Amino acid sequence: MKDTNSLTEELFTGIPEIDEQHDQLISQLSNLNTLLFQGFTVKDVNIFLNYLDNYIALHFLTEENYMHRFKYKNADEHKQEHKNFYENYTYFKKLLEEEADVNIVSSTLNSKIIQWLENHLKTQDKKLANFLFSTNNEN
Ligand SMILES: [Fe+2]
Repeated sequence: MKDTNSLTEELFTGIPEIDEQHDQLISQLSNLNTLLFQGFTVKDVNIFLNYLDNYIALHFLTEENYMHRFKYKNADEHKQEHKNFYENYTYFKKLLEEEADVNIVSSTLNSKIIQWLENHLKTQDKKLANFLFSTNNEN
């Protein structure tokens, strides 16, 4: 298994399953960014996006299962953010499809996907993790 090293300390939630998925997501997104500058083919990118589509869905579902299982009171707000993510993601994929300038695609990936995700990790996901820890301590 690969070392968890793409997450800086401020991005850790302390929930191993969630941290591992975040690590995977952030490192794959940065691989995608690298790929963008390597003269990628449509096929390469499609394979990547297919993987990401599935992984993102799996990841959000993992978190939402925790919310459901432990009756998390901020679930609606958190799930809404997951939905909002897809607006950015769809926009990013549209740029790729339209073969927009690679610099624009890359800066969109950085600002609307990676930074969005990091911000979400630091706020909503951390809040969820703190709730899960406190629930666990009560039992
Ligand atoms: Fe989340």
